[in-house]
Amino acid sequence: MGYSKNLGASLFAMLLLAPAVLASDPDPLQDFCVADLDGKAVSVNGHPCKPMSEAGDDFLFSTKLAKAGNTSTPNGSAVTELDVAEWPGTNTLGVSMNRVDFAPGGTNPPHVHPRGTEIGMVMKGKTEAYMVVSFNSQNPGIVFVPLMLFGSNPPIPTPVLTKALRVEAGVVELLKSKFAGGS
Ligand SMILES: *[C@@H]1O[C@H](CO)[C@@H](O)[C@H](O)[C@H]1NC(C)=O
Ligand SMILES: *[C@@H]1O[C@H](CO)[C@@H](O)[C@H](O)[C@H]1NC(C)=O
Repeated sequence: MGYSKNLGASLFAMLLLAPAVLASDPDPLQDFCVADLDGKAVSVNGHPCKPMSEAGDDFLFSTKLAKAGNTSTPNGSAVTELDVAEWPGTNTLGVSMNRVDFAPGGTNPPHVHPRGTEIGMVMKGKTEAYMVVSFNSQNPGIVFVPLMLFGSNPPIPTPVLTKALRVEAGVVELLKSKFAGGS
């Protein structure tokens, strides 16, 4: 009786935990597996591996984060991504990095990384600032909140946003016009 009750409670707890567990990369199951980004073969996790003969140092080494991004953007910041698409050597290892540059007064708009947890270090904090961040995912993804709400395609209907944000329709239309180009 007690045993089956406990089992029921454990299964219930596992079901609750399952979505959180599935949202991150599976645990790395192998050592280096340089991504074949166009590969169609079935893989255990991530992309299929390039043959060893083609997986040279170029895929395991990157200087991309050494260079500042161009911060002449509407938000005054620039993200230089170094996920598996940019750095195939991270494939199946469950890690990646970004560099974020800020012009004076620039900002990193509210966002979430749906497949990763982020940790970062501010490298330079005044005037032209920048930080280097890392993720527990080779492909953390990014969803910018302003873009998702006001620049999605198909769009979220204005009456829905008006109610959700408790503002007049004109405010929503103005915001939609700012993100109409998708960036
Ligand atoms: C930075 O981006 C702006 C706007 O797109 C462009 O006009 C400028 O030439 C770029 N600067 C560099 C150094 O690439
Ligand atoms: C800022 O805006 C640019 C262009 O709209 C976008 O590509 C970039 O991801 C945004 N965020 C950051 C932090 O640069």
